[in-house]
Amino acid sequence: SKSSVDNGAEERERLVSTLPMRQGFWKPYVLYQGYWMSPQVAKSVMLLQDQFKPRADDIILATCPKSGTIWLKALAFTLVNRSCHAVAGDGHPLLTTTPHDLVPFIEKPDREIHPVTELEALASPRLLATHMPFAQLPQSISDLGCRVVYICREPKDVLVSLWHYVNTVSDHFIELEKAFELFSQGGSFFGPVWDHSLGYWKQSIAEPHRVMFLKYEELMADPAKHVKNLAEFLGVPFTVDEVELGAVEQVVDLCSFHKLKNLPVNSSGKSDLAGWMPMDNSSYFRTGTVGDWANHLTQEMAHKLDSIVQDKLKGSGLTF
Ligand code: A3P
Repeated sequence: SKSSVDNGAEERERLVSTLPMRQGFWKPYVLYQGYWMSPQVAKSVMLLQDQFKPRADDIILATCPKSGTIWLKALAFTLVNRSCHAVAGDGHPLLTTTPHDLVPFIEKPDREIHPVTELEALASPRLLATHMPFAQLPQSISDLGCRVVYICREPKDVLVSLWHYVNTVSDHFIELEKAFELFSQGGSFFGPVWDHSLGYWKQSIAEPHRVMFLKYEELMADPAKHVKNLAEFLGVPFTVDEVELGAVEQVVDLCSFHKLKNLPVNSSGKSDLAGWMPMDNSSYFRTGTVGDWANHLTQEMAHKLDSIVQDKLKGSGLTF
């Protein structure tokens, strides 16, 4: 028996079965519209493309996995909600709820179980997250003028972060050499990572008022500057009074790696993003540093990946 929730499920199943498949970091990946992902995620993306109804005031936070998703979620949530949730207040939601539970992903494997209408129940303006590349976002998101914020990260750090993550959360162990090989071929989760970043980079140049492009390393180097810009972009600029009272620094501190990592909800809590596999929230907080790749990759690996990435980004103006 089929419920209305299953609308199109068979067709998506059929479509996924026709896609190229290869070994992933963990489970096999399929190539959907130029990007590698698990079959479940591919079906979720298809469902989204078919059924998601954006609103003009939606804010979409987009990332390639392991590029600073949780950080961006925390920052954007804190900024847009600071009139109702005092940043320095004891009751701030970030103190008791992990950022992933405050800002939902629009695509997720359990969309086949939990329909996209769940997103329709959320009050406007909605803060939503995605790992989808720009080219896969439903066209209506662009047509309606929804604002999009993207954060990218230096690919070698993304690789090392992803490698640790997969070995932490799954019962599967992947050797670093194998992870490097897959990543360098573009076969990582929502890879190729360079194409993912390039898509948003180009759009941010074409539409700077609608698509904001951030870099993890720049945010780390001067968080106050970028948090101020982000607030402006999101339509909630800091007032002169706020700046004088240190509100920018308060947001930076609340969302900092060490603050979030050490909160009980993040150090010992769990959340179930996939809908069938609760994960330790601690797995989203590892070192939170720039350049940790140097502790893991050989110089040879680093050069090889650098040259692949440089070649792919040539002429785009995007550098890492
Ligand atoms: P490392 O594994 O290099 O430490 P994502 O949120 O996209 O999954 O990215 C995870 C990466 O962001 C991890 O990198 C994690 O430690 C780091 N991270 C998590 N919270 C952060 C924060 N508040 N500030 C900076 N980095 C953070």
